[in-house]
Amino acid sequence: MIPRVLVFAGSNRSGSFNRQLAQAAAKVLALQGAEVTMIALADYPLPLVDEDLKKEKGVPANAIRLARLFAAHDALFLASPEYNASIPPLVKNTIDWVSLVRSDGSGPVRPFDGLTVALGSASDGKLGGIRGLYHLRAVLMNVGAQVVSQQCAISWANKAFGEDGMPSDEREAKHLEKACRALLDHCTPGRGR
Ligand code: FNR
Repeated sequence: MIPRVLVFAGSNRSGSFNRQLAQAAAKVLALQGAEVTMIALADYPLPLVDEDLKKEKGVPANAIRLARLFAAHDALFLASPEYNASIPPLVKNTIDWVSLVRSDGSGPVRPFDGLTVALGSASDGKLGGIRGLYHLRAVLMNVGAQVVSQQCAISWANKAFGEDGMPSDEREAKHLEKACRALLDHCTPGRGR
């Protein structure tokens, strides 16, 4: 059974390096035999998570759409920026809203359960945003996802991608390939059906 992988970047910035990384991951995953769905969080705008809002209006429709997508895929590759050594608000807010779908009754129950995740980050700094991934890993595991240990961080991202859209640094390209391979090896094809 062909594994279904959802791919997105945790940034809506024009010229986002993490979008470039997500696109590179999508290419690698397709070459490795996955069926890839790439989305942009900009197409799923959400208000800042708020329990009063949830009480008054329920979980937003876009959180439910995202929860359905998570539930319909076997795996997720998430390329996330690092903000102040941690998770950017866009990513945390998305995870928080989707985590509330499970108790809302209008979407899939526990959309993260059984979802295998691989993480990447890109930054124009030396560490490539890797410090934020420790926090992101912990949050995702808390909501029930299983996160593979292989991950990739792209340093000096403003000049890290070649004309083919892949990381030019051999070591970084290998880390990306290994993270994608681990994602496919550890996911349960058919979970998202
Ligand atoms: C950053 N940036 C950043 N970079 C980094 O390597 N470590 C960090 O701790 C931070 N902290 C940080 C805080 C805030 C509030 C902002 C707005 C930015 C820089 C950031 O990683 C860089 O702009 C990336 O290029 C953002 O990812 P995208 O949008 O290119 O995908």
